[in-house]
Amino acid sequence: MDYKKMIEMAIRARDNAYAPYSHFKVGACIATSDGKLYTGCNIECATFSPTNCAERTALFKAVSEGERDFSGIAVVGATEGERLELCSPCGVCRQMLSEFVDVHSFRVIMASSVDEYEVKTLEELLPYTFGRKDIMRE
Ligand code: THU
Repeated sequence: MDYKKMIEMAIRARDNAYAPYSHFKVGACIATSDGKLYTGCNIECATFSPTNCAERTALFKAVSEGERDFSGIAVVGATEGERLELCSPCGVCRQMLSEFVDVHSFRVIMASSVDEYEVKTLEELLPYTFGRKDIMRE
């Protein structure tokens, strides 16, 4: 996985964030296991709860294009006009990512620049994951 390329693309995607309420702009870039990259930004709503995070935007774009295997996601975020800070996916995004990935190998890259980032497995961010395995007999 090319972390730097993913972070660069997340930074670029963040420019499209629609965040007129929180002014907190987030960008994400998810990598498929065969190396394709899909980006996303957060998209807010006047009634707040329909707001979609950058991570889910990227995931949904990829899934809607037929992708099912993912290796990692880069995330960048900050209040508009301020320096990027380490931004970790919210609980809803962690759960949604876990629907499609192997939590033990999937990497979450939380970046404050192309050179400064922390990498965690999704399992570290979402331990004791409740998922497909718990409700499917396969
Ligand atoms: N947000 C994301 O897009 N991803 C995160 O990881 C954290 C939060 C968005 C949701 C909302 O538009 C804004 O940031 C403030 O919570």
